[in-house]
Amino acid sequence: MDVNNWTQNWDVLGTIDESGGQASVKIVSRKLDSQKNPKFLKVLNRQSDDERRSRFHREVSSYQTLNHSNIPKATETNSEFYADKSYKLYLVTDYIPGKTLSKYIESEGCIDSKTAIALTLKILQIAEYCHNNDWVHRDIKPDNIILNDDNPLDPYLIDFGISFNSQDLHGFQTEVGQEIGNRFLRLPELGIGSPNKRDPRSDVTSICGILFYALTGIQPVTLLNEQNQLPHQRNDAQTALTSILYGRQLLAVFDRGFQNNISNRWNTARDLIIKLSEIISQSDTLQNLNDSASLLAQIRRDANFENYSRLQQQRNLIARALRILDELFTTTIASIDLHFDTMQRSSDSSTQNKKIYGRGIRTIDEQIEIWFWFVISVIGTELIISIRHDEAESEILRTDAENPIFDAIFQEAAKVKFLTAIRERLHPQ
Ligand SMILES: Nc1ncnc2c1ncn2[C@@H]1O[C@H](COP(=O)(O)OP(=O)(O)O)[C@@H](O)[C@H]1O
Ligand SMILES: [Mg+2]
Repeated sequence: MDVNNWTQNWDVLGTIDESGGQASVKIVSRKLDSQKNPKFLKVLNRQSDDERRSRFHREVSSYQTLNHSNIPKATETNSEFYADKSYKLYLVTDYIPGKTLSKYIESEGCIDSKTAIALTLKILQIAEYCHNNDWVHRDIKPDNIILNDDNPLDPYLIDFGISFNSQDLHGFQTEVGQEIGNRFLRLPELGIGSPNKRDPRSDVTSICGILFYALTGIQPVTLLNEQNQLPHQRNDAQTALTSILYGRQLLAVFDRGFQNNISNRWNTARDLIIKLSEIISQSDTLQNLNDSASLLAQIRRDANFENYSRLQQQRNLIARALRILDELFTTTIASIDLHFDTMQRSSDSSTQNKKIYGRGIRTIDEQIEIWFWFVISVIGTELIISIRHDEAESEILRTDAENPIFDAIFQEAAKVKFLTAIRERLHPQ
């Protein structure tokens, strides 16, 4: 786009009062656009500085090549003329309405753990996309994240002003002697003298800083302070982090994330995505169970009480029916006025809703032994009682399980069943 100055094509719609100082920024709209759609304009400040000009061009090429839903897209620029100082370099991109993460926290306070982790995951996904396309951002900080419509779940990553692309042939060889990065979190590998300034792990570390900041509102500033404490080990942060949901797991995330030695940190955006996803996929309630009362409440909540109590009622009813049958059995046997030894046996073929109990009698001379099997079951809404003797089973009661009636007809039927069997055995035809 052979345009010397942005003012040729763009009108100012509004101002933006923040800038890192490298550029002036404004909300603009295209001169011919009657709808006045807002766009974001960035104009390089020190237009005469060669290095800034080529850095600006590099930033523009990142906006032009990166194609991610949460990175603004370049609309118009003249940065390809960075070598010609008669061009006043500018870039127009999508305008993202919303506060930066820093402004958001300033006005809304810290973000709850679930939302903060979700926000962090989104930023990690953007970073992973950049890394996969050979870009390292190197300046991820709350000022460079815009929350679209002030929604913490829709963060945009902006400001590729000091990003690095390993495919870029105009790499800046002078970086070893410079400090790169920002005051939000200074990383040792980006300090003066370090040759390792193009490492995607630095972005991942900064994103740990973002998570830390979102949760506590505290800027980490350095990995180690003068007392050798990592950001999350400092007093103010500890107070903020111990009481929150997932607090303990997040401390472990920071233990690794804020290691001074880059090779001890999270290796890739993906590694941290996996870790954070694991943390939030654990059930919420398990996170907070640290006393017996809440454990008890949890067990009660998890247990399928409705089902248990249904089964418990069923079991009580069967036990009650058995007591009644036993009573009938013993009184019937006693009414014969002969002495019998009595025996009982339970059957293996019992199930949850069907119990089979054996009751037997034996004459004193042990010549005659008679067994009855009480088959008591709950089927649907009914309690059903049968007595089995010599392979023949007859139903003697069918009654409503909710409101069972063990009436005289049933009692008579049971007695008849016992006595018939005994009579047949004592006086065989
Ligand atoms: N696409 C955009 N939409 C809306 N505001 C933006 C956009 N890009 C940047 N800004 C705002 O402008 C500020 C400065 O832009 P940035 O690209 O970070 O420049 P600098 O290099 O000066 O920090 C940001 O902190 C943000 O408030
Ligand atoms: Mg910025």
